[in-house]
Amino acid sequence: MRNVITLEELRTARLSLDGTVGFVPTMGYLHEGHLSLIRHAKEECDSVVVSIFVNPTQFGPNEDLAKYPRDLERDLRLIEPLGVDLVWTPTAEVMYPPGYQTWVEVEAVTRPLEGAMRPGHFRGVTTVVAKLFNAVQPHKAYFGQKDAQQAAVIRRMTLDLNFPIEIVVCPTVREADGLAMSSRNVYLSPEQRKAATVLFRSLSAAKELYESGERNAEALRRKMKEVLAAEPLAQVQYVSCADYDTLEELSEVRGKALLSMAVFIGKTRLIDNFVLG
Ligand code: PAJ
Repeated sequence: MRNVITLEELRTARLSLDGTVGFVPTMGYLHEGHLSLIRHAKEECDSVVVSIFVNPTQFGPNEDLAKYPRDLERDLRLIEPLGVDLVWTPTAEVMYPPGYQTWVEVEAVTRPLEGAMRPGHFRGVTTVVAKLFNAVQPHKAYFGQKDAQQAAVIRRMTLDLNFPIEIVVCPTVREADGLAMSSRNVYLSPEQRKAATVLFRSLSAAKELYESGERNAEALRRKMKEVLAAEPLAQVQYVSCADYDTLEELSEVRGKALLSMAVFIGKTRLIDNFVLG
């Protein structure tokens, strides 16, 4: 497994990779969710590239960029046994050279949900992912369902910019009690960690209602809110039942839909979702 930093090193190493190349972009502090993406890539591709870069442009001014957890040595130790060919760990100077002024913006699908709560977030994500795609030139790129809107935005961008890359979305990996794995879970105190299962419980309750035949989107949103309201440590930011591709709020669930939510547990902002249909 090679670890490269500069664009020159990355390009030289890329030339020596055989066959189909699978790519897993990450911000590090890896957990089973990230590792599952790497395993999927390994199964489907001849060579696998992982990037680790805490992308400053996708964090808002009041977000956790400075304290975002980082541990490169540990990340490399976790990746090593998975048979990854190349790990790219660019610096901020490599990705954003002095005088930087070029941005990739996807429109409607970035506006609701996370886009509404985190202005500029998706502009940072699409810009960095487009740059990573250009540099790595993978055949397939792997993203987690955990960040459902991000996956929808990247799918849209890939189509719109004609990247010859297949976007593969892999299932959310969860702890035994249902909490979706996230690098941010380390911020939770033991009491908050228990309360954090409320996201999964609330999504499960709405899914059960859907499975019993409920198709009214407002009834599904109400059910999620009801379960969340019973958890005193949870502060709800949004609850949504939206179209799977456009993320527009639904009045009635017909095709594929996304139940999603953002909830503060103390100062930690957690997101989770289930796919219906
Ligand atoms: P990061 O939060 O490190 O996540 C990297 C990838 O891992 C994303 O595709 C995310 O959806 C996936 N992932 C995270 N938790 C997961 C879980 N519990 N189960 C399955 N997959 C999970 O997302 C980013 O980084 C950045 O925005 C990035 C795309 C790298 C651009 O900077």
